[in-house]
Amino acid sequence: MKIAVLPGDGIGTEITAQAVRVLKALNLPMELEEAPVGGAAYDRTGDPLPSATLDLARAADAILFGAVGGWQYDKLPREKRPEQAVLGLRKHLGLFANLRPSIVYPELVNASTLKPEVVSGLDILILRELTGDIYFGQPRGIRVAADGPFKGQREGFDTMRYADGEIRRIMHVGFAAARKRSRRLCSVDKANVLETMQLWKDVAAEVAAEYPDVEYSSMYVDNAAMQLVRNPRQFDVIVTGNMFGDILSDEASMLTGSIGMQPSASLNDSRKGLYEPIHGSAPDIAGKNLANPLATILSAAMMLRYSFDREDAAVRIESAVRKVLVQGLRTADIYESGTTKVGTVEMGDAVLKAL
Ligand code: IPM
Ligand code: MG
Repeated sequence: MKIAVLPGDGIGTEITAQAVRVLKALNLPMELEEAPVGGAAYDRTGDPLPSATLDLARAADAILFGAVGGWQYDKLPREKRPEQAVLGLRKHLGLFANLRPSIVYPELVNASTLKPEVVSGLDILILRELTGDIYFGQPRGIRVAADGPFKGQREGFDTMRYADGEIRRIMHVGFAAARKRSRRLCSVDKANVLETMQLWKDVAAEVAAEYPDVEYSSMYVDNAAMQLVRNPRQFDVIVTGNMFGDILSDEASMLTGSIGMQPSASLNDSRKGLYEPIHGSAPDIAGKNLANPLATILSAAMMLRYSFDREDAAVRIESAVRKVLVQGLRTADIYESGTTKVGTVEMGDAVLKAL
């Protein structure tokens, strides 16, 4: 098992350190190699995704990724910004299928800002297409408006686009996932306004016909955003594009109480994956031993499940995480009175002990 460890910026280094401890404790035949990425890589080399880091990621079977970004990089030209590292890795490695599960653990049901009766028992999977859409569509840029009432002014533009095959392959991933879950799939689009999304909806319906055993529906994204807080348990698998998936997955993470609990997997078609928490680098709490490492530890579990086919080891990690929650240990983001507040390292210690 060759694993590239890319901690990145801010709390990224602290949380990946804990996930690495957990992986090592499993005593599996694993080779871990670390490389800088994001702002940390820019500081050292002038490039947020240096070729040495990309080569390491290419050679690895799986990538454990922390988080990237920081205020000091916000004014850099776009191609130098830390975010380009994660976008570049996704694109270069063809990681088109982004799995973002949202699970409400019984111990954390009160950590959600939503009422317990709305979120308790929630277990949904947002499947976000990750290498297409307005994120990567060309042309894009800032130009001078050639006509219209704002003629002569600066005008920003981006291109939303999806090819038939691109939609089809993510739908197949979604239906296959639904078959292993509660057999319901909802495709989320904006076909009432956008041509790209009309194609999305048409292709989704065509693929759905190949899976008669899965209950298929489609929903407009604005309604889906509303339904996610009104009655999130109506969903099982949600399949959506890159932009809408970015937004809906952050929204869904808060149903569970904290974005600090949400792992993710980004897969290509040969099971190579990049595994990362869905939260960012949180520069405001970086270096203070405050960050919740559980999302990254749970991402390591997803790695064992999806890239290495080690369901047993994945379940071991997930059970250890459940155990520390049952023990009442909480980082600041999920703390409530009556529980025990711990830091990043202490949470890592507890998971190791539970393992
Ligand atoms: C995410 C993040 C990224 C995205 C950023 C950091 C480029 O928000 O993984 O959800 O927009 O995809
Ligand atoms: Mg996001």
